[in-house]
Amino acid sequence: MNDSFDNLKERIANKTVKIAVVGLGYVGLPLAIRFVEEGFSVYGIDLDKDRIESIKREHSYITDVSDENLGASLKSGRFKVSRDFRIIRDTQVIIICVPTPLKRKYSPDISYIKEAVVSIAKNIRRPSLVVLESTTYPGTTEEVILPLFNKNCKFINSENLYLCFSPERIDPGNKIYSLKNIPKIIGGINPQATELGLLLYRSIIKKVLPASCARTAEFVKLLENTFRLVNIGLVYELTMMSYKMNIDIWEAIKLASTKPFGFMPFFPGPGVGGHCIPKDPLYLYWKAKKIGFDSKFIRLASKITSYMPYYIVERVVNLLKNKKKKWEVLIIGVTYKKDVKDLRKSPVLDIIEILQKNDIKVAYYDPLIPYLKINNINLKASELKKEILNKFDCVIIATDHSNIDYKFILDNSSLIFDTRNVYRGIDDRRIVRL
Ligand SMILES: NC(=O)c1ccc[n+]([C@@H]2O[C@H](COP(=O)([O-])OP(=O)(O)OC[C@H]3O[C@@H](n4cnc5c(N)ncnc54)[C@H](O)[C@@H]3O)[C@@H](O)[C@H]2O)c1
Repeated sequence: MNDSFDNLKERIANKTVKIAVVGLGYVGLPLAIRFVEEGFSVYGIDLDKDRIESIKREHSYITDVSDENLGASLKSGRFKVSRDFRIIRDTQVIIICVPTPLKRKYSPDISYIKEAVVSIAKNIRRPSLVVLESTTYPGTTEEVILPLFNKNCKFINSENLYLCFSPERIDPGNKIYSLKNIPKIIGGINPQATELGLLLYRSIIKKVLPASCARTAEFVKLLENTFRLVNIGLVYELTMMSYKMNIDIWEAIKLASTKPFGFMPFFPGPGVGGHCIPKDPLYLYWKAKKIGFDSKFIRLASKITSYMPYYIVERVVNLLKNKKKKWEVLIIGVTYKKDVKDLRKSPVLDIIEILQKNDIKVAYYDPLIPYLKINNINLKASELKKEILNKFDCVIIATDHSNIDYKFILDNSSLIFDTRNVYRGIDDRRIVRL
């Protein structure tokens, strides 16, 4: 072992090493705070001025981080935030949590990673552990990031840059599984990097497992989310099929779930959203295509899940078509999943757009989203009042937030299209289930 490795290892073990978390979003902010909670000093870096100001005001913009936790971290004196990458010079552990969107369908955009790496590389001064947590295609860490460091940093080389990939598995809004108790995977570009990565994460997470290399760790994340997308796509297809057969898919899934082995339930819904499931498998699709492999499962699952909002509108239009007037529909819940204030890629936004294109007047109610902008049109959330509910031709339950009075909605509506089965067990001719 060389001096720099032993020294860095000791500093991680005794928590004197300073950590930089680059990108303070859904992934980076909770991670930074977790390290602070365990006694580390952390610098958070983000280019977004509003986010940095918000943190300084102790105001969290992430559901899973409370203002109290954020405030406590800042008051400890061990959490500082900035837009300036020069603070990297003071650190020896850097964790990258920047976005990885799509340029267009099936085409990854890793420009945020590249930009962050160049800014980091220009400021690294000492042997460092660098971990990428942004979801990306296999090969990014070794084939893209390593060369960027070699090109842009004169203080480190392959001897003293310990580079790893560690997928983030956070499930926003999940009250049982959080950063602390979701097992973490880490794979370095060499055994030393993996060893340092394991040591670092074991100080904040109960179970941390090594992958044999960074490429495998990158693949693991995409395998997990491809598994979800394909199974969701399958259940969506079976939902449409069972409707034609006059079979209740919800009942069928409930009964199939009684099998104690070999079945895992996935549920019907208005479509997939968020920053992971609709997008991550397409990163894998793209990489596979590059090496001449055509993933039919990923393509099909993406196609079926993207079709779901159209299917929902089709079913609603069929329910309304005998009414001779301009239809008005109320959507309940617009975020991509329940109890999370996140609209990214929400299929409910697609449903609203498709309804509007069908010349249907749309209003929405969502306790987490007071205002909404669709196609440059501002919408304000409706109130849930008897006289308001009364005027709609149909209410679509799109996102099943916990703190909504579904009974009140039922008592005051003439027709409900329930995409989440919130009215399970209730037999009422006004309720139509997906
Ligand atoms: N949101 C999730 O639930 C989740 C779960 C697992 C993995 N991921 C993955 O983690 C990564 C981050 O996702 P997120 O949801 O936290 O994204 P986010 O958009 O909430 O946050 C990313 C932050 O990075 C900042 N940023 C962008 N470029 C930067 C740069 N060059 N330097 C510094 N900051 C920069 C942005 O301003 C933003 O605040 C993505 O790859 C995503 O796929 C997300």
